[in-house]
Amino acid sequence: MTESTTEPARQDPAPTAPPTQPTSTTPFPQNRDCPYHPPTGYQPLRADRPLSRVTLFDGRPVWAVTGHALARRLLADPRLSTDRTHPDFPVPAERFANVERRRVALLGVDDPEHNAQRRMLIPSFSVKRIAALRPRIQETVDGLLDAMERQGPPSELVADFALPVPSMVICALLGVPYADHEFFEGCSRRLLQGPGAADVNEARIELEGYLGALIDRKRVEPGEGLLDELIHRDHPGGPVDREDLVSFAVILLVAGHETTANMISLGTFTLLNHPEQLEALRSGRTTTAAVVEELLRFLSIAEGLQRLATEDIEVAGTTIREGEGVFFSTSLINRDTEVYENPETLDWDRPSRHHLAFGFGVHQCLGQNLARTELDIALRTLFERLPGLRLAVPAHEIRHKPGDTIQGLLHLPVAW
Ligand code: HEM
Repeated sequence: MTESTTEPARQDPAPTAPPTQPTSTTPFPQNRDCPYHPPTGYQPLRADRPLSRVTLFDGRPVWAVTGHALARRLLADPRLSTDRTHPDFPVPAERFANVERRRVALLGVDDPEHNAQRRMLIPSFSVKRIAALRPRIQETVDGLLDAMERQGPPSELVADFALPVPSMVICALLGVPYADHEFFEGCSRRLLQGPGAADVNEARIELEGYLGALIDRKRVEPGEGLLDELIHRDHPGGPVDREDLVSFAVILLVAGHETTANMISLGTFTLLNHPEQLEALRSGRTTTAAVVEELLRFLSIAEGLQRLATEDIEVAGTTIREGEGVFFSTSLINRDTEVYENPETLDWDRPSRHHLAFGFGVHQCLGQNLARTELDIALRTLFERLPGLRLAVPAHEIRHKPGDTIQGLLHLPVAW
């Protein structure tokens, strides 16, 4: 599937009840009660759709976009910045407020600089390049399932399968040694989940130090992978400097494994909790591609995309003022009743291609072709090879991640 940033903008449906001056002070973000449904505490935001006033952990009022059409319009609006070095850039939790505001490649850069960065990487994530990785991804998935079968049930699916699949794949793609996975997976976990600001700061410094040293080694001893290409290939704007290389490496390594790992574990849990839908997959009444697409919409694991208004923006009968923070609640956007019939239902036949699980606009996920391919191979092979797959503990004992980070499971004990 190609990126859809060039699609013509859809006509906004007429808002049923335009919020002239939303007054809700619902806390945001909140923890999910069920790992695959939006928090029940977001009920007032559904009522306010498409735009609500919400309150961050420190009492700061910001906007939450919850309507599909409005989200597409605003995510394509250059007056909303992603520059995370801005002192007013909104953050979802205290641990991010007290860290040094560093430049983040791609996701933290506005156009035109963002466009120049993205163009350097796009060829490596094209449909064709990712399709060429299929045999390698299949081999990775098969190898992990072989090991699980050898060891026999029960198994902890996050550690034994969901995390190593994307982690091994992104390592091969970038040219990072998988042997170091415990180190960088730990850094990535602390970078996103803390628990404190010191953990976030230290994790970033450690990860940057590790990747910086790897890049220095690659300069003298070129290897195979995207980082090597970035170091040694000719670029129209001249060589990429070390700081940018490290920044690319950090975002690609972290985004490349954390997100897909959560989709595999949460997707598996969701399927096991929906036996009828799982049976449709097992019996071939639906395709894995349709299952992946609907799971992406239904789970919306990248919740609360952040932006800062750099100018006043008149929208939905109100004004987002310059300097105000804006969050996009993908879980509510992807369950907008204006766009999706029975959005709370997991429906493989739904034409759900316009979901915003990968974002929208210029920052739309660079790795979406890779993520779809990994999910397709991982979920199909898992349920084919282990037809008796089931939870090894009651569903209510499975713990999930807090609402201020990428959504997923902390553990998933299974048997077969
Ligand atoms: C199912 C898995 C994934 C999900 C749900 C996901 C979700 C997202 C979302 C929502 C954004 C936009 C963020 C925003 O606008 O603020 C994004 C951006 C990004 N994603 Fe993914 N992602 C996934 C997998 C991956 C993978 C495998 C990679 C591989 C490298 C990746 C790399 C990136 C990068 C580099 C960006 C920033 C793009 C830019 O700013 O131009 N993601 N992702």
